[in-house]
Amino acid sequence: MQGRVLTKILGCFWLVCSGLSYSGNAEQGAKVFQACQSCHAIGAGADHLVGPHLNNLFGRVAGSLDNFNYSAGLRAAGANGMSWDAEHLDAYIENPIALVRETSMRFAGLASAEDRNNLIAFLRANSVGPSDIPESLPTSIPRDPDVDPQILAITGDPEYGEYLASECMTCHQSDGADRGIPSIVGWPTKQFVIVMHAYKSTARPNPVMQMIAANLADEDIAALAAYFEKQQ
Ligand code: HEC
Ligand code: HEC
Repeated sequence: MQGRVLTKILGCFWLVCSGLSYSGNAEQGAKVFQACQSCHAIGAGADHLVGPHLNNLFGRVAGSLDNFNYSAGLRAAGANGMSWDAEHLDAYIENPIALVRETSMRFAGLASAEDRNNLIAFLRANSVGPSDIPESLPTSIPRDPDVDPQILAITGDPEYGEYLASECMTCHQSDGADRGIPSIVGWPTKQFVIVMHAYKSTARPNPVMQMIAANLADEDIAALAAYFEKQQ
C-alpha cells in the first residue's frame, strides 16, 4: 500500500515537474505475466484457457468476448459500462474480488505496484494502437479504489451498523442471488470496506450501489462492516 502511494506521488511529481508521464516497462511486464500464464494466453493465435485470452484488452468491455463463460459479476460490470483501462486493470490485478463481485478469477492478486504497472504496460503493448492508449497512473487518482489506511483503521460500531443495515436488507436478503444481489454477510471487515469504497469511488460500476455508498460516511461504512461480519 505504501509503495503504491509512493509510486503515485512520484508519478504526479514527474508529470507536474518535468512534463513526463509515468510508464511501466513492457519487457519486465512480460516476466510478470508468468503469474497469469496458467490461465491466460496472449499474442498471436491466443485462445481462451481457464481465463479469456488477453489480446486487445484496452478499451474492451469487461466480460464481452464470445465463447467465454464469464461470471455474472463480470458481465454485469460490463453491462454497467466498465471497460478495461489502466486504472481498472490495476485494481483487478491487485485484488480481483474488490473490483468485480463474485468474479471467477481465482487469483490472490499482485501486491507490488511496480509489477502491476509493468504488467499493464505489457498488456497495453498487446492491444491495438498502444501509442494511442494513455499511460497509467496520474490521471487515475480520482477513481482509485485503493483505500486510505486511516479509513481501514476505523473501528466500526456494530450496533450503529445494525441500525444502518435495515436499508440494505430491502435488497440484500439471503435469497437474492437470482436477481444479481449478492450475499453480504460474514465478510472480513477489511474486504467489505474496500468494496464499499470501490463503489464510492465509482471504480465498481453498479449505479445503485454507487448511490448508496455515496451517502455513507467512512464511519458508517466501518459500522456496517462490523455488523455484517458477525451475521451468518
Ligand atoms: C487461476 C486462473 C487465473 C489466473 C492465475 C489469472 N486469471 Fe485472469 N481470469 C481468470 C478467469 C477465470 C477470468 C474470468 C473471470 C470472470 O468471469 O469473472 C479471468 C478474467 C480476467 C480479465 C478480464 C478479461 C475480460 O475479458 O473481461 C483480465 C483482464 C484478467 N483476467 C487478467 C489477468 C492477469 C493480468 C493475470 C495475472 C496477473 C490473471 N488474470 C491471472 C483466471 C485467471
Ligand atoms: C436497491 C437495492 C440495494 C440496496 C438498498 C443495497 N444494495 Fe448492495 N448491492 C445491490 C446490487 C444489485 C449489488 C451487485 C452490484 C454489482 O454487480 O456490483 C450490490 C452489491 C453490494 C456489495 C458487493 C457484494 C459483492 O459480492 O461484491 C456490497 C458489499 C453491498 N452491496 C453492500 C450494501 C450495503 C452495506 C447496503 C446498505 C447500506 C446495500 N448494499 C444496499 C443492491 C442493493
